[in-house]
Amino acid sequence: MKIAVLGYGTVGKGVDRIISERVSGVEVSRILELPDRLTDPRMTSDYAQIVEDDDIKVVVECMGGLEPAHTFILDALAKGKSVVTSNKAVVAAYFDEFVRQANATDASLLIEASVGGGIPWIASIEKVRRIDEVTSFSGIMNGTTNFIVDGMVKEGADFDQVLAEAQALGYAERDPSADIDGVDVRNKTIITVGVAFDTACEKDIPTTGIRTLAKGDLDALRAMGRGVKLLGRGVQRDGGYAAAVEPVAVPIESLEANVPSNFNLISLDATTVGPLKFYGQGAGMLPTGNAMVQDVLDFAAGLRPHYDFSRGLEWRPELLTSDYVFRTK
Ligand code: HSE
Repeated sequence: MKIAVLGYGTVGKGVDRIISERVSGVEVSRILELPDRLTDPRMTSDYAQIVEDDDIKVVVECMGGLEPAHTFILDALAKGKSVVTSNKAVVAAYFDEFVRQANATDASLLIEASVGGGIPWIASIEKVRRIDEVTSFSGIMNGTTNFIVDGMVKEGADFDQVLAEAQALGYAERDPSADIDGVDVRNKTIITVGVAFDTACEKDIPTTGIRTLAKGDLDALRAMGRGVKLLGRGVQRDGGYAAAVEPVAVPIESLEANVPSNFNLISLDATTVGPLKFYGQGAGMLPTGNAMVQDVLDFAAGLRPHYDFSRGLEWRPELLTSDYVFRTK
């Protein structure tokens, strides 16, 4: 099976490497790159050469950002090509539009890598939902903020100091606002609502990041046996649902409080299986590349996720009680 990779940054290289070293029967026949970076005979900067190529069955989008990723994904789906993407911003913004287009042309949208990096979170939710209703989910979905809050607690440093350290180590982006203001977790929460509750999530979910966490507050909570984690959460009940992103005070002995920097821990609760927790690397070339290649292999094996979103649960933010949430000023 021939596939194309859009974008040859960290994740695109990871996908190409895993396929060439570990997978047979799949060939990366085309790579979309910028005109000044065409270093490989498979590369082109002309998307038409990919989207018009009937031999290419799957487009693996690793460009990030909203445009042109949004247009490229829609064009591929409209041509009946299936799309694998790690791009949480574009999926969160256009999930329902992508689902409608995919369903119209009998194409698939595969989004495992968009939440939780290498953790099989999306596939696990889909499996749980074959039998159960997912009643709630909650998780540490961002390694950068986990690193910063951990550093504030363990090193006794202030937010700005730990952020500078995270940037020097290459963990945080130079413009870290998507991470520290909770936007990245909001995108992952919106996607999880779509998959877990089969509904197009309200885009404007309550979102508080970690920018205003003060070291003194963290110390006071620690003295009370609490740690703080930035969590994305969702709940559904009686035809309604709610979701939010907030720093939450968690018991110091909980699994959540002990998740190390750069790892994710995401949990769900469901009707018959009960509570499940998924732990692993939430970012990085090979974990994220692995999740994308798993999607390609699922597609090749005929395992195709199908979203519908016609259920239309009612947005009821009051369903998420916040009495244990550490609210910043
Ligand atoms: N910025 C994200 C993180 C990358 O820190 O977890 C993975 O989505």
